[in-house]
Amino acid sequence: MSIRRLRLCLVGFGNVGRAFAELLLREHDRLQSETGLDLAVTGICTARFGSIANPSGVDLQRALDRAIAGTPHGPHEEPTAFVASCHADIVVETTPLEPFTGTVGIAIIRAALAAGRSVASANKGPVAHDLRALKDLARRHGVRYRYESAVADGMPVFSLIERSLPCANVTAVTGLLNSTSGVVLQVLSEGGSVSQGIQRAQRLGIVEDDARFDLDGWDTAVKLCALSASLWDKPIHVADVERAPVSDVLATKALDARERGNRLVSMATLEWQRSNEAVQARVEIEEIGPESVFFALTGTSLGLCFETSLLQPLTISCSNPQLADTAYGLLADVLHIGFDDSCRT
Ligand SMILES: NC(=O)c1ccc[n+]([C@@H]2O[C@H](COP(=O)([O-])OP(=O)(O)OC[C@H]3O[C@@H](n4cnc5c(N)ncnc54)[C@H](OP(=O)(O)O)[C@@H]3O)[C@@H](O)[C@H]2O)c1
Repeated sequence: MSIRRLRLCLVGFGNVGRAFAELLLREHDRLQSETGLDLAVTGICTARFGSIANPSGVDLQRALDRAIAGTPHGPHEEPTAFVASCHADIVVETTPLEPFTGTVGIAIIRAALAAGRSVASANKGPVAHDLRALKDLARRHGVRYRYESAVADGMPVFSLIERSLPCANVTAVTGLLNSTSGVVLQVLSEGGSVSQGIQRAQRLGIVEDDARFDLDGWDTAVKLCALSASLWDKPIHVADVERAPVSDVLATKALDARERGNRLVSMATLEWQRSNEAVQARVEIEEIGPESVFFALTGTSLGLCFETSLLQPLTISCSNPQLADTAYGLLADVLHIGFDDSCRT
């Protein structure tokens, strides 16, 4: 098998960027022997810890060690200039979410696509706010924009829609999309409080800087916006998603549900309304029983059920996803881009 080098530039080297680097270090040789793709990181760009570029390959283990020690990688560079000039085929974008605008991520992805580089991104902001324009830009430059890990970590949501459900006419999507809410509701059902639930979620390392962002349904709302844009090319605004918060007010309800053998979940719903060609999106607190496909998804587990006009409801789930799952979502994107490029050459 002939070996083809695929050069990657990482913009963002925090939790997800580093987990991706660790996955590459672990799996590089197996991936090369199975696919013929030699995945090499040729650049890393961060906000506070500077950047590093080496056309023949960055020493990833050293970069990880420096990141953990808090040692700068090199000089500060603007990420848009960095992705335009770096020696890379694919930019792996993992900068922080800006839920209401997606501005920084959008600018970086635009700069990468315009420079003729494909993009794999874990950032749901650009998907929610600018998907159509980003896809157009990618098309015009003959490259790809993929974002598998932007919703539900490594769960294959977007590639399922794209590759496994062609013309299936998805009419609704429901599911559990926020791990912190799942953990906090579980703690309430055990007689604990929201702050105890947040502490448990923090010990698991899954809470946003501001836990209310998860518990008030904003995180799930952005994911629903990303799904709406991707499924139906129907962008909706985060503020238009109805949200019911997870709060201590639910404590008695959670205990009562448990006594009945049920449990409370934060259920995300996205519906295509054929009558007015509009999308309805909401995040509700729902009591579910053992008959629900989501009942077994406790703790941080996530799941989504697709309703289509051609299949019976189709559910996918992921038990207690970790950062390595998100990293795999990015790797899957990179490999899909690599395979697509192989088919074209
Ligand atoms: N964590 C998860 O489980 C998870 C799961 C799915 C998706 N995601 C998404 O993945 C993305 C990354 O999450 P994370 O947890 O890895 O975040 P994080 O730990 O905060 O890391 C963000 C990284 O982006 C860098 N950065 C910030 N602003 C930048 C800029 N303007 N230019 C260049 N680099 C910049 C930061 O640099 P410094 O290190 O210098 O600050 C840091 O390296 C987010 O969009 C998040 O929503 C996360």
